[in-house]
Amino acid sequence: MQLEQRTETLKRMLTLIEEKTSIMGETGTIEVSHYTSNERLADELNTLFLEYPVIVAHASQLAEPGSFITLNIGHIPIIVNRDRHGVLRTFLNSCRHRGAKLTDKPCGKAKAFKCPYHAWGYMDDGSLKFVPSNEAFPTLDLDQHGLKELSVTELAGFIWVVPKNKVPKNKASNNEEPENKELDIQGYLAGIDNDLEHFGLKNHVVRVSDIQRPKCNWKLVIDAFSEGYHLKSLHKDSVESFFLEHGTVFQKMGRHSRSVGARKEILKAQSLPESEWDFRGWTTPFYTLFPNTILVFHPDWVSRITVFPDGTDQCIVYHDMLVPEDADLKATYWDKTFNLINQQVFAAEDIAICESIQSAARSGADTHWVTGGLESPVLWFHQECDAALKS
Ligand code: FES
Ligand SMILES: [Fe+2]
Repeated sequence: MQLEQRTETLKRMLTLIEEKTSIMGETGTIEVSHYTSNERLADELNTLFLEYPVIVAHASQLAEPGSFITLNIGHIPIIVNRDRHGVLRTFLNSCRHRGAKLTDKPCGKAKAFKCPYHAWGYMDDGSLKFVPSNEAFPTLDLDQHGLKELSVTELAGFIWVVPKNKVPKNKASNNEEPENKELDIQGYLAGIDNDLEHFGLKNHVVRVSDIQRPKCNWKLVIDAFSEGYHLKSLHKDSVESFFLEHGTVFQKMGRHSRSVGARKEILKAQSLPESEWDFRGWTTPFYTLFPNTILVFHPDWVSRITVFPDGTDQCIVYHDMLVPEDADLKATYWDKTFNLINQQVFAAEDIAICESIQSAARSGADTHWVTGGLESPVLWFHQECDAALKS
């Protein structure tokens, strides 16, 4: 968000606070079966988690040549690495011999990947270089058995992968940067990339990460982080006291949404000139990035929360704490604040309520749930899921 936009947003929020209200958006309903249905999950895995850009890491996590991370995007296991020449690459984490995962490590450094099953060896550009007892494979063409490569893009501080976009073989086997114009992450982000640039996300590093496996549908986690309506009730004993009840604004941006909540400090605006207004200190902007990421901008750090389904009733939640790269990374302050948000607020409040909803979802008590005017980003997220599955 540029300065002008930040100032306009603050003015709008102050007016709403004076009127003792927040933005009231579209209301609607959500189909309860979408949280429990196997068919729905299969559609989501084959569409949302194949055809749309998913954040797999912050760029700083793969800055060094030789570094790699692994994760599953839905049911697709991938390795994302920066090879020895500095080229960012993504491979299916599946040996071309008989399919074993090349590594189970969540992250590390490697110049080559040796399959643990029969020791086929792949270079960090994905090419197959070594087959033990190769006389047992008289017709095997090594050039045709490099790792399957997917296109990957670095933009606005994050690394994005669309699993269905394969890099053509002739590109995958040389040292050139894979071409992936078809990703057009920038167009997809509908202006949010500009916000991330202005918030300096490129100049952040990951201070600490956590992975949780709540017993709930992945969409419930996205829902919980897409609205501030529950702040006053669910978070009354943790972070509620930092925020005002009113003044929240939100808007749709492409398939995504941006919300901004008012922190109590925003009232300082009444006695300070606009040139001293502190958008980051006085508000909490948060983004629902379709399909499965939430960004929350706390005053001095950023939560990146990415959620993957693991069955209808379970999911995997990655939570990274991004701090400015020039921060004192050793300070225990960061651990304390991350623990407060990650354990007390997210795990014990947000995720606990998601699990409670999941346990009720199969009861048949309701076929639909309602979303009010303060929860439009939740509704938009579900509408976008529906639209993507139908298209
Ligand atoms: S499955 Fe990888 S070497 Fe056999
Ligand atoms: Fe919450």
